[in-house]
Amino acid sequence: PSTTPHPAIKAEFELPEYATNVEGSDPERIPLDKFKLVVVKLVADAWDEDPAKIFQGVDTGKKGADLAVAIPRFKKGKPEEWGQKVVAAFKPNAAISDLKLTGPFLCFTLNKRSFTYHLLRQINLASTAARDNPTSHTLAYGTTDEASGKHMLIDFSSPNIAKPFHAGHLRSTIIGAVISNLHEAFGWRVTRLNYLGDWGTQYGMLSVGFERYGNEEDLVRDPIMHLYKVYVRINQDRQAETDRFNAGEEIDPETTVHALAKKVFKDMEDGEPKAIARWKRFRDLSIEKLKQTYAELNIKFDVYWGESQVAAESMERAIRIVQEKNLVVEDRGALLVDLERYKLEKAIIRKGDGTSIYLTRDLGGAYDKWLKYKFDKHIYVVQAAQTLHFKQAFKTVELMGEEYAGRLEHISFGMVTGMSTRKGTVVFLDDILEEATESMHEQMRSNEAKYAQVEDPETTSKIIGQTAVKIQDLSGKRINDYAFNMKRCTSFEGDFGPFIQYSHVRLCSVQRKNPNVPLASSVEDIDLGILDEPKIHEIISHLGNYPAAVRTAYQFNEPSTLVTWCFRLSHLVGSAWESVKVSGASEEEAKARLFLFVQTREVLASAMRLLSLTPIERM
Ligand code: ARG
Repeated sequence: PSTTPHPAIKAEFELPEYATNVEGSDPERIPLDKFKLVVVKLVADAWDEDPAKIFQGVDTGKKGADLAVAIPRFKKGKPEEWGQKVVAAFKPNAAISDLKLTGPFLCFTLNKRSFTYHLLRQINLASTAARDNPTSHTLAYGTTDEASGKHMLIDFSSPNIAKPFHAGHLRSTIIGAVISNLHEAFGWRVTRLNYLGDWGTQYGMLSVGFERYGNEEDLVRDPIMHLYKVYVRINQDRQAETDRFNAGEEIDPETTVHALAKKVFKDMEDGEPKAIARWKRFRDLSIEKLKQTYAELNIKFDVYWGESQVAAESMERAIRIVQEKNLVVEDRGALLVDLERYKLEKAIIRKGDGTSIYLTRDLGGAYDKWLKYKFDKHIYVVQAAQTLHFKQAFKTVELMGEEYAGRLEHISFGMVTGMSTRKGTVVFLDDILEEATESMHEQMRSNEAKYAQVEDPETTSKIIGQTAVKIQDLSGKRINDYAFNMKRCTSFEGDFGPFIQYSHVRLCSVQRKNPNVPLASSVEDIDLGILDEPKIHEIISHLGNYPAAVRTAYQFNEPSTLVTWCFRLSHLVGSAWESVKVSGASEEEAKARLFLFVQTREVLASAMRLLSLTPIERM
């Protein structure tokens, strides 16, 4: 809760009566909503309509008006007549300065000075409150606590131990982190869970491989890389055996890599202590290493779980229920859920040898997680290639009659093409981040004077590098594929990550470079007439739309909406520097403009934080 007392609204900006308790509106936190509700009250009274309905029909940015209402959407008959009723009832006020009837549209002009006042006031109050309560996610401008009390469990990143962390995992990590933050911004309690691929015959292979090719030193130094190398080599051995066998050579079936691996995995499944101990060590070391990499990305998990952790009883339970409900068929000893009626094919849930498979673990896992977390919603952020898998899993859960069936949701995303690093086509996340960092560092070095002022260029280039990689990933609609391009995404020219950081840096430097301009503590202390000009109106209007951009991103789990918003703000601010000067302006001008830029920076910084970026202050 905020401790800052709200100063009273200045009399000249006191808004007329507005509609209250309108669903979907949040006038206390969103100034634009308050102004819309003034329109709603006027229109709803004139037409004797339901305010909530009208609220949905007050559009921004249509017909060149600040706010517009399409009359035919609500009223049959002559739009002109209905329009005149509203016009007749209208008097210019602190919210709306003008109303025109343009064809079938009511076009409202916001009282710009008043809107600027209310907006900057709100941003300032909210960001002060947010700063005072850093653990709360629902104080900053653009957030709400409407979902408070609800719990969201999110499964994202979820790589496989000993296999490369591929582009699909990278996207899941980046998108999942933002979706988590967006939920927190609406009041959800969020549990971030990493569901590791850490069980199955391949871990038998890994163990056999480690006996042959592993060494302690490399394992401890870089477990993920080392285990991957071991895994590749043991697979080569296995392939060589197959080739020899196919060429007619005699091979002892007991000692093949495959047979040994199967045996080790069987031991693991039986809980044989030595087999388990080795697997556990691989797993623990991998998690430790993953944690470091996630920290580089500014991403944290609450729980490291995984396929190995799914309770055997939960899988047995799932199988028992699908059998009882007659949902299965048998085929050569394997058990399949028959989902053909739903055009979802048949899905194996128990293999011929009685062992479990990915789907079985997801079915048992969902139940385990339900018991433990009692989530209101459980999101799985996984590449589109697994869409069928999740449809099958969720349909099965539904047919099983599970109470949490409607709470599971797969958030999918398209592929990344062309991802490779200088070291090769198998991509390690660390290498990507390192390359991005180097690229940023080089570009920063090219401006010696500025470079000398950056306190910690290593960290700064790291942050801009990860921004570049993340923004590239988040820029398009998540369902679209994109081509990874290191050179492009680290460029300062154009709509790429570094540009957003650069805009934030400039918004910081305007304050730094003008140490003798006082920063007003509230909007009451500045002359709003100074901010009454077109370039600034555009910025204000865009800031006014920020809550709507956050909401859209949240509603559709679509971070790109927020990225687009950041780019547009960056362009608007970029084109304002020329005319909206702080340096060299009169004292009052400088003070008002600085206040505007500081509030703008606050909003840009919160948008960036939602996008899991660390806003930097110098570069
Ligand atoms: N480890 C899996 C993979 O790399 C992704 C796991 C996604 N989560 C889940 N609950 N299935 O393909």
